[in-house]
Amino acid sequence: MYSPSIMNIDELNIANIRSQFPVLDQQVNGKPLIYFDNAATTQKPLAVIEAISDYYRYDNANIHRGIHTLAERATEAFEASRLSVQKFINSYEKEEIIFTKGTTEGINLVAYSFGKTFIKANDEIIISGMEHHSNIVPWQILCQDRGAILKVIPITDVGELDMDAYAALLSTKTKMVACVYVSNALGTINPVKKIIELAHNVGAKVLLDGAQAVSHLDIDVQDLDCDFFVCSAHKLYGPTGVGVLYGKRALLDAMPPYQSGGEMIKEVSFEGTTFNELPYKFEAGTPNIAGVIGLNAAIQFVNRTGKTAIRDYEQALLVHCVTGLKNIKGNTLADPILFYGIAKSKVAVCSFAIPGLHHFDAGMMLDAKGIAVRTGHHCTQPLMNRFGIDGTVRASFAVYNTKKEIDVFVEAVKLLIRK
Ligand code: ALA
Repeated sequence: MYSPSIMNIDELNIANIRSQFPVLDQQVNGKPLIYFDNAATTQKPLAVIEAISDYYRYDNANIHRGIHTLAERATEAFEASRLSVQKFINSYEKEEIIFTKGTTEGINLVAYSFGKTFIKANDEIIISGMEHHSNIVPWQILCQDRGAILKVIPITDVGELDMDAYAALLSTKTKMVACVYVSNALGTINPVKKIIELAHNVGAKVLLDGAQAVSHLDIDVQDLDCDFFVCSAHKLYGPTGVGVLYGKRALLDAMPPYQSGGEMIKEVSFEGTTFNELPYKFEAGTPNIAGVIGLNAAIQFVNRTGKTAIRDYEQALLVHCVTGLKNIKGNTLADPILFYGIAKSKVAVCSFAIPGLHHFDAGMMLDAKGIAVRTGHHCTQPLMNRFGIDGTVRASFAVYNTKKEIDVFVEAVKLLIRK
């Protein structure tokens, strides 16, 4: 497991960080809220809430259309967010940044549009056994439409990709590898640079599902050399309903529009239509302007706090949680907790089961103590099947969580086991 090197976030500034998240300051079921469902969605700092409300309060107008002052202010703020995203993930140019509704839409866009141009019968697409349903189903549909073949990288017992099996799946028939950077259900950080290098060796393109990676890891799409990268704002302390698709310009230029209407048009006549340049070609209709502006505020929050500091702090939380849970003794000699996902390289996600106690019941009992965790299959049913289970209890941490909260959580889990 990753060991923290720099501890920039301490008990002093954690209070400052927490004070920026108004939602945390409440009681749930008579207890102080402990929010450990950050892999589902993170809470939003005041800076994000205010950026959204200020847009509606002072600047609300449609973008790229009006010449009036409000339209110009809204357009400037929207495009400033694109520049922030470009810097945040280090794309070569801002035209490679497409705003979407979220990770799912980004994957669907690529599966549809890349698929239409580049996938034909008997081509092969590789995904992994730890994908979210959103990175399975669009490729299944594409394969059915085109007569292509879907192959799956198997998972080891510790919850890592079997890289030898992956290498064996690759061939010149492989046209796309669509792989999750960080598993939402297990927390595993996949060796994506190696995955990309091997895919490129056979001429395949790579889409990285960065939904769970973007708030924990530094993302540099040029260094990774991925062909597509998708993520959502709401897992990065930003609003729901906004996401980012990064694609290499040459590919995006070669791909047809995904949806039509509005911004993606250059000229329309009844004889035919020409399409706009990147990035607008893929941004049909009035976008979630407030959400995109909120995303910029979220990026500034993360930049101010520091990605390295966030990661180091979250890793310390993970170690504290796993150590606490491992120290719980059961009523019998059998392990009172079974952990799923014990990869060497992980983000701060702890997925486990308590034998004899259904994960839903565990989740409800924890909620009664004000503790929010996710239970169930986490939209990764094939992964759950791999481990022969139908779900886990998942605690996932963010920068505002504390060791004290984890101590309360561990005590609560101990009580569940004892009962
Ligand atoms: N994909 C989100 C999760 O893992 C919703 O909870």
